[in-house]
Amino acid sequence: MRLTSSLLLASLVLLLLLLPSIEMRAGKGRGLKGARHKRARHELTRDRVRGVRRHSRSGPSRIAAPQCSELTVSGDFFVDCQDQGLNSIPASETWSKQPNHLLFARNRIKILRDGAFLGFESLTSLDLQQNHISLVAEGAFQGLTRLTTLLLQHNRLGTLSEEALISMPNLRYLRLHDNPWDCVCPMDSLIRTLQVPSNRNLGNHARCAEPTRLKGMKLKQIDPEFLCKEKTDPTGNPQGDQTDPTNPVQPIPIRTKPDATTSCHTYLFPQVRMDCSKRGLTEVPRGIPEDVVHIDLSHNSIRHLKARDFQGARGLRSLNISHNNMEHIDTGSLSGLLHLRELDLSNNSLHSVQYGVLEDLYFLLHLKLGGNPWVCDYSIHYMMYWLRLHPGVRYSGLLCRSPLEHTGESVAEYVRSYNRACPKDRQPSRTDPDQTDPELWNTAMEVQGELEEELEPSHLRAPQKYQIIRLS
Ligand SMILES: *[C@@H]1O[C@H](CO)[C@@H](O)[C@H](O)[C@H]1NC(C)=O
Ligand SMILES: *[C@@H]1O[C@H](CO)[C@@H](O)[C@H](O)[C@H]1NC(C)=O
Repeated sequence: MRLTSSLLLASLVLLLLLLPSIEMRAGKGRGLKGARHKRARHELTRDRVRGVRRHSRSGPSRIAAPQCSELTVSGDFFVDCQDQGLNSIPASETWSKQPNHLLFARNRIKILRDGAFLGFESLTSLDLQQNHISLVAEGAFQGLTRLTTLLLQHNRLGTLSEEALISMPNLRYLRLHDNPWDCVCPMDSLIRTLQVPSNRNLGNHARCAEPTRLKGMKLKQIDPEFLCKEKTDPTGNPQGDQTDPTNPVQPIPIRTKPDATTSCHTYLFPQVRMDCSKRGLTEVPRGIPEDVVHIDLSHNSIRHLKARDFQGARGLRSLNISHNNMEHIDTGSLSGLLHLRELDLSNNSLHSVQYGVLEDLYFLLHLKLGGNPWVCDYSIHYMMYWLRLHPGVRYSGLLCRSPLEHTGESVAEYVRSYNRACPKDRQPSRTDPDQTDPELWNTAMEVQGELEEELEPSHLRAPQKYQIIRLS
């Protein structure tokens, strides 16, 4: 008896001693890349809600329980039900406690009934974007007195009563864009509310789809005076145009560049992310908000990155421009991206990256370059030069596509053979006593010399010299 219990105790102690090391090993085994990807999750406690817990709280009769996640991030409780094909909001008792944030993007909700969020009184943000919502009852948001952020963009709303907003006295951010707003009399009070100067973050970017004469105009900008005086029929009888005083005053603006907020989908969790993939974009959209951390511009038709394209997007950590038709990246197009960790330029039409493009990317860790027709001639040296000055960058796919004699060869190998073929250029530094890695140094020196000789603009030459000093 005593033997058994002491054995039991011993094995318990052993188990407790072993546990931390097991955990540590699992952490290490993930590798650098995995660890970085998981970094965000380290701060979270993630808990899949399904099966057992659900049954214990709402009885076994519930079928097709949503596979939502519960997460706690810096004290806030999130319920993440994105992409679950749900057509209604599950009752608040479904979760282990009242959520502060409810993520319900990309489901199939069509209608928000009166009291749809009763029991959700702790909510401060509610993401309902990319559902099929076409009707919001006046009492739908009843009880959401703490709500500050409501995302209703990319739905099917033609109208919304201002009454629906009254139950949310703390609402600060309301997104309504990409809904087919029918700018007729019943919208009068909502439009007036949005236009109150202190409501500057409510309903920006939302535009009328109907009637025809107001199509494309911002709700923020139309003159509500005329909405209820109109005699036009609900289908937008164009005859109204002749007598309509708003029409000549505010013509539909001609927009040259797409706007990021309306062209892309924005997700706030776990970090602000913009999905601009597959939008048929031919340019980088303007107005990328400052707080965006990840942006995906892949699978578009962008041919050219221009200076200041990412101006203002100072918080970007990852930028994906893969699968476009990019042929040229202007110097200055990536400037200011001091926090960028990951840059994906793969599957484009790049021949080279011109001098100066990468200069601000001090903290880059991953650079994807595959699937581009890199040309192994003099113009590729800058790329290699930069990579050697930034040994912490892990890059992939830098292979010569042309000329024929170098096809399939790595650019690094091409540059090395280029240097071997020109031993004369190596002479000066061979006598340099401080030299630790002659080949590396030569390449940098040589490229530097060439760049200074042949490349404009001249104002870049002087600071460039300091980089050589920094290397040594
Ligand atoms: C960029 O987007 C492409 C296509 O969507 C994807 O395959 C790739 O993994 C992404 N790159 C990064 C670094 O996430
Ligand atoms: C994209 O690039 C990768 C190499 O990085 C290549 O394996 C793949 O076939 C390319 N895809 C397309 C669609 O071109």
